[in-house]
Amino acid sequence: MEFTIKSGNPEKQRTACLIVGVFEPRRLSPAAKAIDNISKKFLSNLLRRGDIEGKLGQSLLLHNVPGLLADRVLLIGCGRERDLTDNQYRKIITNSIRQLKQTGAMEAVNYLSELNIKNRDYYWKIRQAVETIQNTLYQFTEYKTKNKTSRRKIRKLVLSVPTRKELSIGEQAIENGMAISKGIKLTMDLANQPSNVCTPSYLAEQAKQLGKTYKSVQVNVLDEDAMTKLGMNTFLSVARGSDEPAKLITLEYKGAKKNLKPVVLVGKGVTFDSGGISIKPAAAMDEMKFDMCGAASVLGTICAAAEIGIPLNITGVIPATENMPGGSATKPGDIITSMSGQTVEILNTDAEGRLILCDALTYSERFNPDVVIDIATLTGACVIALGNHATGLISNHNPLAKDLLNAGETSGDRAWQLPLWEEYNQQLSSPFADMANIGGREAGTITAACFLSRFTEKYHWAHLDIAGTAWTTGKNKGATGRPVSLLVQFLLDKCNKNKPAA
Ligand code: BES
Ligand code: MN
Ligand code: ZN
Repeated sequence: MEFTIKSGNPEKQRTACLIVGVFEPRRLSPAAKAIDNISKKFLSNLLRRGDIEGKLGQSLLLHNVPGLLADRVLLIGCGRERDLTDNQYRKIITNSIRQLKQTGAMEAVNYLSELNIKNRDYYWKIRQAVETIQNTLYQFTEYKTKNKTSRRKIRKLVLSVPTRKELSIGEQAIENGMAISKGIKLTMDLANQPSNVCTPSYLAEQAKQLGKTYKSVQVNVLDEDAMTKLGMNTFLSVARGSDEPAKLITLEYKGAKKNLKPVVLVGKGVTFDSGGISIKPAAAMDEMKFDMCGAASVLGTICAAAEIGIPLNITGVIPATENMPGGSATKPGDIITSMSGQTVEILNTDAEGRLILCDALTYSERFNPDVVIDIATLTGACVIALGNHATGLISNHNPLAKDLLNAGETSGDRAWQLPLWEEYNQQLSSPFADMANIGGREAGTITAACFLSRFTEKYHWAHLDIAGTAWTTGKNKGATGRPVSLLVQFLLDKCNKNKPAA
């Protein structure tokens, strides 16, 4: 889909469809008013007859509106004008594109960017519109042999700004929005792939592909022998039960001077989590193909960063493996020495994410990081605590946590912080080793993060538990692409901070 920016009145647009807002109760938005005036009160007469109240979610398609060059007018209910929130704006945009899809129109001029949203400017509104629309139109049809695509596709969307003054900011918003959407799509495509296709080797190939596409990205893949030499035994202990060889993938995006310390993103890449010897129940086990969403979000974020050309250095570290109950699988009670030298008693082989992450976190020290952020579908407990609305956030450095929370608010891809207190750490004690790999039923998300925190003492670190947010479960299951927009926003905010004040 192609997006462009335009300033100009609706009555002047020669287009298949004009999209304009109507507020509750039966009030016209500025663009709708302009249409009303030129059409001799066509819209106000219609509203008076009660065909559309203006409620959020409502819509009405009109043909042959007098005085216009446009074939159609699509009225979109926006709710009460006074209290439009970020989320409502996104809902309005989503609804407009769903309704437009139902018509025969293949292009349209959308005036909904004129809506007033508290504390949001045209850059934000246009970028959010692009991301929301691309997300609404996303489909994963690779394995459908019938009815792959819809009859008539929307090809082009013009987003309007009030005057020529806003054109260039609007164009920048489209460019960034498209780059972020591209990263999100990569993340969703990888995550939606079944695990018989998306293996650790496949993830490594995809990373190499990114390196080919972008000169600014260098990729390196370590095999199990190399990892053995490095002493990554907790990572390898997870891979033992699988016939698929594990890979440690690193990507280095260079967008700034060499000496600028990188932001390191560590993504959990378990391409299938059966639980290992502590095997999971059968129900919904298929969804454990999504246990590599952290890895996919690292690839998507680096893709978006390279596409935008973000002036930062960003390093991706992806431990990729299956978690399977093969004949040489690690067994409960086994004790493993991690790359850091600390020993771990494995009490549950289904708590594998932290075992691959801890070695990847130790490995990350060698990049001399500015900050390290790990992204992982780590605990079912996080789904219970926060549902699918917020990503769980835990950090050893409060300013970093604040920056991530803010980036979540701006991008609409929100996180919520949980405490990293010493009291929780004690739940991990083991009679035989330095620590156990599980901390009991209580506060499962926090004890998982406590485990990781023992490997991140040398740098500023934050952990994002995306178990509830990375995919939708049930009948309409599928990857969401989260938290790519949060991460890209965090990076964009960071380079704005680096800029000297004007
Ligand atoms: N990948 C799972 C976490 C998960 C569960 C994500 C459900 C999304 C939905 C992780 O490896 C896991 O199995 N965690 C265990 C940890 C437990 C054994 C301490 C869990 O949450 O049950
Ligand atoms: Mn598991
Ligand atoms: Zn897992």
